[in-house]
Amino acid sequence: LKAIAVLTSGGDAPGMNPAIRGVVRAALSHGIRVYGVNRGYSGLIIGDIWEMNSRSVTNIVQRGGTLLKSDRCEAFKDPTVRHQAAEILREREIEGLVVIGGDGSLTGAALLAEESGIPVVGLPGTIDNDIHGSDDTIGFDTAVNTALDAIDRIRDTALSHERLFLVEVMGRDSGFIATQVGIACGAEMVVIPEVEFKIQSLCFQLANNRVKGEGSSGIIVVAEGPRPGLTYRIAQQLEENGQSPKVCILGHIQRGGSPTGHDRVLASCMGATAVDYLRAGYSSIMVGVQKGEVLDVPLKEVLERKKPLASEWIAMSSLLHK
Ligand code: F6P
Repeated sequence: LKAIAVLTSGGDAPGMNPAIRGVVRAALSHGIRVYGVNRGYSGLIIGDIWEMNSRSVTNIVQRGGTLLKSDRCEAFKDPTVRHQAAEILREREIEGLVVIGGDGSLTGAALLAEESGIPVVGLPGTIDNDIHGSDDTIGFDTAVNTALDAIDRIRDTALSHERLFLVEVMGRDSGFIATQVGIACGAEMVVIPEVEFKIQSLCFQLANNRVKGEGSSGIIVVAEGPRPGLTYRIAQQLEENGQSPKVCILGHIQRGGSPTGHDRVLASCMGATAVDYLRAGYSSIMVGVQKGEVLDVPLKEVLERKKPLASEWIAMSSLLHK
């Protein structure tokens, strides 16, 4: 193996930089040339590729975002465009590609590998933690901690003014972030797409808290879910039931910032492992972590199934509100 390339694609996630650094430093240590592709697949299809060295990744391990920039590339869904991308890689004598991103990016990776025969290894890079085949994804831990930091501050005002807050967190159509954040911030309730939401249960719970002398202050963590505007709809329903909630949408604050130690180690390790897998001749796989063990998971398997939020976590979260 003489040369490989690395790109980041889809929504940025804290830890993408340490992952890039892991790929670059591991490859160079084996005498393999490494190319960085700017702006994900959008850069790949126009040949926006540059040779990296050890200094290219100096001082990035602690930085959020991605040095290589990222993009959601609609054009890459077209097989002709993927064919052009493969030609560009071949012209530059690049014999392997590492793709760091979420499910859309890994779908592109699987198709490129299958159609071109160029070995591709994926890394699960998304704050949503919704990638089947890996217990953890790069960026999830940081996003949970960023949301917690914000909610702990909101809690001060909630308590001082005895106010009810609806705090919306990201997660696309999964409730991983909301569930962990809800447990860790002591939320009065968590609303996630995996569990049917009933306004009556929420009102009952809030009335119960008041009876127990807990006042009308509270934090309800709402996962953004697949349909935009859910948190405002819940706020409206609460108003119709005599409550005066405040809405706080955390939004992209959860995607930025310095990666936690956990994400830096996970990402560095996954980046270096991706190089080992390419050297060993693997392709169409993702580096995953299961029960603390780093392993290879076929991309086909990763993309075929939706990762479920474990029922134990859902039960734990609702147990703690009571
Ligand atoms: O997949 C990461 C994520 O932050 C989701 O949680 C969110 O739904 C989406 O990306 C937002 O994407 P964008 O930054 O393109 O609006």
